[in-house]
Amino acid sequence: WRQERLKRSENMKDEDRVHRYKGILYPTVMCARENLEALGTLEARREDVVLVSYPKSGFTWMVGVLRKIMTAATGKQFSEFPPHIEFWSPEMQKGVAKEASPRLMATHLHPDDMHPSFKEKKAKALVVWRNPKDTLVSFYHFMNKSPGLPNTEWNHFFTDFMKGEVVYGSYFSHAEAWEKLYDDPNVKMITYEELKHDLSGGIRQISQFYGFPLTEEQVQTISAQSTFSAMKESAGATRGKYNSNTYRKGEVGDWKNHFSEAQSQQMDEEFNKRLAGTKLGAKLKY
Ligand code: A3P
Repeated sequence: WRQERLKRSENMKDEDRVHRYKGILYPTVMCARENLEALGTLEARREDVVLVSYPKSGFTWMVGVLRKIMTAATGKQFSEFPPHIEFWSPEMQKGVAKEASPRLMATHLHPDDMHPSFKEKKAKALVVWRNPKDTLVSFYHFMNKSPGLPNTEWNHFFTDFMKGEVVYGSYFSHAEAWEKLYDDPNVKMITYEELKHDLSGGIRQISQFYGFPLTEEQVQTISAQSTFSAMKESAGATRGKYNSNTYRKGEVGDWKNHFSEAQSQQMDEEFNKRLAGTKLGAKLKY
């Protein structure tokens, strides 16, 4: 599905590669309007494994980890489908509605744009965060490498990111909305930086949160299969040229190689205005 869709976008004009839905920009080919409309009827279940992140925060990494945890716990394979619910065509969504639990429901959508059943059914959600400076850098490179998104120039993209004029909207608006749910027992926030520091520890926490107990041997196996180099190699081997775009550098602090002093200050000011003094803000400090 990925190859086929990205191939379709290759001859599109840059301005057609994004579209606006309810005020927010989305990638046209991956996240068509009809997909977003159909999500208005795709209900969550209590047993769903929900994963949420703002783009470029370690989403693919956690999809890989969660699929492995779920396979270890249930014996079922979870890798055939596009990971993001908003990438599912209306037809795919109909199939998912009939699927047995547990289902992996992963998304970049803003919490206010997720179906109300996610909250009502108390589906457990893992929310992955990355400090905003590295997120912006990763996003910038992805824009220029992904055939499904318009090309951009650094200073221009910096301005767009700060305004929230990028696909899926404003980083800070997502963070402010999730901050309100920080203490919700059905929500677990984890950061890219924590996972880089101790991946096995992160895997243990995640499996406990969802109630999928793993042996220490399983934790170590999943951890070894989920390093940057292991995932990059396996994606290159199995999914061809487009997918390797996701695996760029996989490091913390690359923003220092990109930001000017003025841009760094502008981000600090915005961060302090929007997130300083909050629990999520303390986790995201770079
Ligand atoms: P960089 O561009 O900084 O390298 P997402 O999946 O949310 O789009 O995030 C992509 C970012 O996560 C990229 O960051 C990518 O390299 C990084 N990434 C993907 N898999 C990873 C892994 N196993 N370990 C560490 N980082 C990973």
